[in-house]
Amino acid sequence: MTTQQQWRPSDWRAHTAGQQPAYPDPAALAATEETLRALPPLVFAGEARQLKRALAGVAAGDAFVLQGGDCAESFAEFDANLIRDTFRVLLQMAAVLTWGGQLPVVKIGRMAGQFAKPRSSDTETQNDETLASYRGDSINGIDFTAAERAPQPERMLQAYHQSAATLNLLRAFAQGGFADLKKVHEWNRQFARTSPQGQRYEKLARHIDEAIGFMRAIGVDSATHRELRETDFYTSHEALLLPYEEALTRTDSTRGGWYDVSAHFLWVGDRTRDPDGAHVRFLSGIENPIGIKCGPSMSPDDLARLLDILDPARDPGRITLITRFGADNVAAKLPPLARAVRDSGHPVVWSSDPMHGNTTKAANGYKTRSFERIVAEIRAFFEVLQSEDMHPGGLHLEMTGKDVTECTGGAREVSEEMLADRYHTHCDPRLNANQALELAFLAADFLRHKRNAGGEVRAAN
Ligand code: PEP
Ligand code: CO
Repeated sequence: MTTQQQWRPSDWRAHTAGQQPAYPDPAALAATEETLRALPPLVFAGEARQLKRALAGVAAGDAFVLQGGDCAESFAEFDANLIRDTFRVLLQMAAVLTWGGQLPVVKIGRMAGQFAKPRSSDTETQNDETLASYRGDSINGIDFTAAERAPQPERMLQAYHQSAATLNLLRAFAQGGFADLKKVHEWNRQFARTSPQGQRYEKLARHIDEAIGFMRAIGVDSATHRELRETDFYTSHEALLLPYEEALTRTDSTRGGWYDVSAHFLWVGDRTRDPDGAHVRFLSGIENPIGIKCGPSMSPDDLARLLDILDPARDPGRITLITRFGADNVAAKLPPLARAVRDSGHPVVWSSDPMHGNTTKAANGYKTRSFERIVAEIRAFFEVLQSEDMHPGGLHLEMTGKDVTECTGGAREVSEEMLADRYHTHCDPRLNANQALELAFLAADFLRHKRNAGGEVRAAN
């Protein structure tokens, strides 16, 4: 087996790479790769290491991780207010979860780079015309025309520049006073006051109020403590489009080692996690913390093999397992994987993606997800891991700060008929701001009961 030292960012090219576009002009692709290789890193290796340390805390049961954002970012919806609103909801959710678990919450956006999508079919047919499927804005366009659907390598440059601008704004928000806990909590109070489930959430919000009041009384507030007015915020995306990821993989100038500097955290999707495939080969050599999506077809042996390839050093924080089984499959699928992980000795983070196993088609044709099924998957995830004596360490969500109507249900009941009103996603249906926050309140209840009872997971009344 090749050792870590011998690994090169281009190694994946000798392996089968699923879900890649067929670029018609190899010279144009090579030119773009060359340009990308010369562009500055988007993140610094030291930040990726810092995230890995934070995730090691989650693996040890001492923290929780919240990862969320669009299914796919888009060039058309590149807007400061949208970035701000998604960031704000993530902060609000994190505050609620921090209180629920009495644990620090590591915050990661599916932002500033989430542009490439795996698809179930290479082509799409509409009225007898067959074109390449839309694969995300870094690859081709969403409109159903031959010109738009042709993959264009130059799109990678636009994705890079949009990621740079997004990240710049996120860094400003995280460090510039926008993330002040007092403000974040005030937004949550407002949410609780106006939610149809208000009373239930107001009770929790009042508890947080008291905690903040107590800290202020003993002299701990945002004026005196940086932790209360600033936050660490990290970026992530699926490492799908390998020419892009390769071009942004650099050696760390301070310590050596390869880092994919397109984001702090990269994950391998459920469709491309073949242990012999190109994506796993690529991820095996970078030192960033990485995620593995685990769907219903993953066997305990598959997982054990992947862990050996991707985390031979059993490095705490290196691996986050993002389970996405579907609410009804968790009870059968998760326990064997949990036991395989225990037997293997890898110190992983367990995170639940309650979105991708619960996608359905509404009667009017919209792809949707029901809030109830999403909550059911999270509840089952907590129950199984607690009974296996492992830490249910995180949530991975497709969500937006916008008031879209893409997932059904929630306290402000989005019905199937309402999906047409504000269905804006470029790929999968996202939780809107209210649904996302409501989910955080429910998950905070799960965490609180785990803490108090050390057992059964249930929502408070
Ligand atoms: C996604 O996270 O958008 C995705 C495609 O997930 P998965 O690989 O789990 O299907
Ligand atoms: Co998705």
